[in-house]
Amino acid sequence: MINAEKPRLYVLPPLPYDYKDLQPYISEEQLRIHHQKHHQAYVNGANAILERLDKARKDSADLDVKSTLKELSWNIGGHVLHGMFWSNLAPAGKGGGGQPKGASGDAINKEFGSFERFKKEFTQAAVSVEGSGWAALTRCRQTGRLIIMQIEKHNTNVYPGYRILMVLDVFEHAYYIDYKNDRAKFVDAFWNIVNWNEINKRLEEAQK
Ligand SMILES: [Fe+2]
Repeated sequence: MINAEKPRLYVLPPLPYDYKDLQPYISEEQLRIHHQKHHQAYVNGANAILERLDKARKDSADLDVKSTLKELSWNIGGHVLHGMFWSNLAPAGKGGGGQPKGASGDAINKEFGSFERFKKEFTQAAVSVEGSGWAALTRCRQTGRLIIMQIEKHNTNVYPGYRILMVLDVFEHAYYIDYKNDRAKFVDAFWNIVNWNEINKRLEEAQK
């Protein structure tokens, strides 16, 4: 049954801060283009495929299911991950940066031994993504353990059903204006704008 209250297509979510608020770690220009052009492109891409599917079903027309679903996975993955990324960032000193406290601090210490060790492993995961992709901190539903996921593109190496607590976009489109090709410098800057309150919230929801 279709839930009439749910939108049938994706929409670009507004950022929970202004474009200039993540400076100096992400410039206004970089953030604006990333959100308005790149993220929007995944929203548009996913919606175009959904409309194509709707039409083909209505017309009883054949389509190339394999390539359509591959393209859909790329676009939905891009849309969902960007939405998570924006909300796990916050302006430095105003919710962003510092060390995790509460639930995420405890869980990170338990799994990794220390925040420094976690930071090192996550940084290495982000810096070494082959091509374009993401680093993600996830929680396994079966064991409750925190596990780092190194996503290639938007959809490869994903552990099915693991709750994503924090993501870092390391597509070059995330940092080329500010850092040129220096991904490591961008990853280093990321730690100043991590929204630990949001990560705590996601973890607490996952632990319910
Ligand atoms: Fe991106």
